[in-house]
Amino acid sequence: MSEFTDTVEKKLISYLPTTDNEDIGKLISAMEYSLMAGGKRVRPMLTVEFAELCGGSMEAAMPFACALEMIHTYSLIHDDLPCMDNDDLRRGKPTNHKVFGESTALLAGNGLLTHAFEVLVSDEAIRLNGYDKCAKAVSVLSECAGVNGMLGGQMIDLESEGKQSDVEHLKVMDNKKTGALMIAAAKLGCISAGATEEQLVAACQYASDIGLAFQIIDDMLDITSTTEELGKPIGSDTENEKSTYAALLGLEKCRRISEELTENAISALDVFGDKAGKLKDFAIYLLKREK
Ligand code: IPE
Ligand code: IPE
Ligand code: MG
Ligand code: MG
Ligand code: MG
Repeated sequence: MSEFTDTVEKKLISYLPTTDNEDIGKLISAMEYSLMAGGKRVRPMLTVEFAELCGGSMEAAMPFACALEMIHTYSLIHDDLPCMDNDDLRRGKPTNHKVFGESTALLAGNGLLTHAFEVLVSDEAIRLNGYDKCAKAVSVLSECAGVNGMLGGQMIDLESEGKQSDVEHLKVMDNKKTGALMIAAAKLGCISAGATEEQLVAACQYASDIGLAFQIIDDMLDITSTTEELGKPIGSDTENEKSTYAALLGLEKCRRISEELTENAISALDVFGDKAGKLKDFAIYLLKREK
């Protein structure tokens, strides 16, 4: 896992844009600050694992994996802004706007979002995957990150503050704000590998289940963990009167639901026979995570 983190971080840094303009240099520094601040790198891991499981390679999947991590990091920079969740700590460091100011943080998020698509269709991505797969990757990532994916989920999240939501509403919100990028991770790996339709469907089912479990656990950790362990402020959801599974159903019920989702995710991988052990273990790791 930490070996993979090193590999992905070397790639991430190599994909960052460059400039000889001093002002633009500040923007790239702000992008780099959040991108390289650590993080579990869950989504790139999924992309590469699914690529390898479906007969592809880590090398070819890496531009897709890194583009997705750029989108994820942009979503975190914007999520932390005062107009959103107003948080001061992320990945154990002061949030982007605390270091660079709100305007630069806004642009740094936009920068990562835009640059991700440059990486998806870079010469390297095309050499390793071909035009058709890169075009499919653009389509999947823009859809999953966009209005009916992560962004839509963030909008529902804002609109749900201070309200009592039912489970169905929370499920739609979490599937979009968090599930969509997990599904993107699985799909990008499948696309790079040229997976079959059956493999793609199974990968999406797994990603959707662990994605929902991931957000439910994130909401539980906001209550049960510590700021030191999480690297982000606990109690943020309560302070913002967020609608979450944890607030609605309590911790015990949430634990049961996330266990069931993890079991379902693992069963979805049965179509891969005994080759999916690593992804099955990964689902358990995500269930048991403490940060
Ligand atoms: C945090 O994602 C935002 C959610 C979708 C809950 P991660 O928990 O994957 O954050 P990093 O990348 O490890 O910092
Ligand atoms: C954010 O959910 C999901 C995103 C799309 C960024 P949270 O607001 O719960 O994420 P954290 O707890 O700040 O990481
Ligand atoms: Mg949020
Ligand atoms: Mg937040
Ligand atoms: Mg949270």
